Amino acid sequence: MTPGGTDDARHIWEAVAPAWERQRDRLFASSRAVSEWLVDQPDPRPGQTVLELTSGPGETGFLVAERLGPDGRLVSSDLVPAMVDVARRGAADRGLRNVEFQVIDAQDIERGGQSLTHLPGYEDLIGKRPLVLSVVDEAEVPPQTA
Ligand SMILES: C[S@@+](CC[C@H](N)C(=O)[O-])C[C@H]1O[C@@H](n2cnc3c(N)ncnc32)[C@H](O)[C@@H]1O
Repeated sequence: MTPGGTDDARHIWEAVAPAWERQRDRLFASSRAVSEWLVDQPDPRPGQTVLELTSGPGETGFLVAERLGPDGRLVSSDLVPAMVDVARRGAADRGLRNVEFQVIDAQDIERGGQSLTHLPGYEDLIGKRPLVLSVVDEAEVPPQTA
């Protein structure tokens, strides 16, 4: 996802997490239309469990959480613990109660025997706006890591 690899990505995103939190509203305002389009694609329904990888500050996933209702569950995850904390505070500010948070390296996630980050189409997002939203069975959500 970053030319220098996962360790570089972790350090870079950890360093910018405070600024992303301060600029949360401005950043999301500039990308909200795209987020809404992205969220429409998996068409999340009430009661489903959705795993979000590379969540950043979490705003795109929060749009999903609103659609899942009280019986649904969004697992918001990111590589960087500091960014997961930014998302956690964002969900609390919005009063979202159906969101859990995990630290997950998207490159460790496999589905159907294939890393999600190697699925066709994902490469186009690298360096632009990485996001994976996947409607999953409960059993597919990795054990709690954060
Ligand atoms: C541009 S932000 C994400 C924006 C978010 N997807 C959205 O829709 O607004 C990029 C995020 O990808 C995360 N990231 C980078 N490499 C990752 C990896 N290997 N696994 C999980 N997250 C990663 C970074 O920590 C950062 O928070």
